[in-house]
Amino acid sequence: MTKITVRRSGPLNGTVSISGAKNSVLKLMAATTLAQGRYLLHNVPDIIDVDCMSDLLGSMGIGVTRSGPHDLEIDRTSDVVPEAPYELVERMRASIVVLGPLLARFGRARVAMPGGDDFGPRPIDMHLKGLELLGATFEFSHGYIEARADSLTGAHILLEYPSVGATENALMAAVLAKGTTVIDNAAREPEIADLAAFLNRMGAQVLGAGSSTIRIEGVDELFPVEHTVVPDRIEAATFLAALGMTGGELTLHGARAEHMEMFIEKVGEMGMRVSPTSDGLWAMAPSRLQSVDVATLPYPGIATDYKPLFVAMLSVAESVGIVTENVFSGRFRYVDELVRMGADVRTDAHHVIVRGRSQLSGAPVRAPDIRAGAALVLAGLRADGETEVHGAEHIDRGYEDFVGKLTAVGADVHRD
Ligand code: EPU
Repeated sequence: MTKITVRRSGPLNGTVSISGAKNSVLKLMAATTLAQGRYLLHNVPDIIDVDCMSDLLGSMGIGVTRSGPHDLEIDRTSDVVPEAPYELVERMRASIVVLGPLLARFGRARVAMPGGDDFGPRPIDMHLKGLELLGATFEFSHGYIEARADSLTGAHILLEYPSVGATENALMAAVLAKGTTVIDNAAREPEIADLAAFLNRMGAQVLGAGSSTIRIEGVDELFPVEHTVVPDRIEAATFLAALGMTGGELTLHGARAEHMEMFIEKVGEMGMRVSPTSDGLWAMAPSRLQSVDVATLPYPGIATDYKPLFVAMLSVAESVGIVTENVFSGRFRYVDELVRMGADVRTDAHHVIVRGRSQLSGAPVRAPDIRAGAALVLAGLRADGETEVHGAEHIDRGYEDFVGKLTAVGADVHRD
């Protein structure tokens, strides 16, 4: 267990370089199972989840090496064991995205069933339904999904909900299926568009990714490629939220305003000024923000990952804001930690009611997951005394050098 210690800081000033998106690179890595050969990925964040996916690919017999600080070389040999063991799926739930590509490429896959987590139950019914429509069959035994498909055939997949993972699994399976697949009510996240761009570069024929309807013409073969990972909109939002906590002025090098329009609009309503620059974003925040109401929704709505950031900002904003969670049922555990820091936050079903205070009170707290962990560090920036965020390894799963980047813009943060 590691911890991050935070003291009241600000105003923040300076430039932060935004890393490549965790939620894209993990899927691109999974997609390398689709074709044999050597891949080169650039703008790869140095985070624990990338190490987890590297271990998973390694356990299948695929070589993964960091050839530079942000470059990953993946050598997909011919001898792949299409299996994702429990120890690795348990470490990282996103491992489930290997199911579609393994099935498409090898006609079989054995993947540990991911359980629930701190967000509540995390079913994969839509992943399985999409793959079933393409021709896969499943058996469940001893905690594993045993998947088979002699051949996959294009189908119309209408998702009940625009699930990110279900869209990605269907997409990665459909690229090698015979004929046309249409995924309707597909997730529209920029990371899905990045995955489609990667697959198209590999020789796939994917149209419409980034919109609700994705059309895929199956091809017989794919090839290894070189690709640069899209910047991480959630990391960029996290630094804008840090600015919202303290006031000041930041430039986010590499951030893409067009991937976070709704977030920018909301923090604008709260009193921040954000403008795109030629290679990122510029933002300025007053010493205290105004409260707003926020509801999470699938992209392009306010991402569920932004929610803890909004709760942290609202906890020190003027007046009252209500945050409504519409994506995950149980993403509230960090609220009790914020209350221990003196925040006036109440939960009522899937709503969080936040009455802003002028400052919080530093306390030892525990990070329950990646984004909530980051939000607790941000809360510490506006708390008197010292805040110790325990379980900081959760933050390292998704943020590259979080402490270093915050320190460089004037935050009083260090890691013990
Ligand atoms: N759902 C189902 N059945 C399914 C799949 C999903 O009911 O078969 C439900 C989920 O339980 C949830 C909702 O649909 O209530 C959305 O889940 P989704 O499948 O869209 O999420 P995910 O693919 O599991 C990704 C990100 C999450 C992010 C969500 C929502 C990755 C690795 N993870 O998860 O990111 O919160 O989309 O945008 O891409 C994070 O980065 O910290 C993180 C948790």
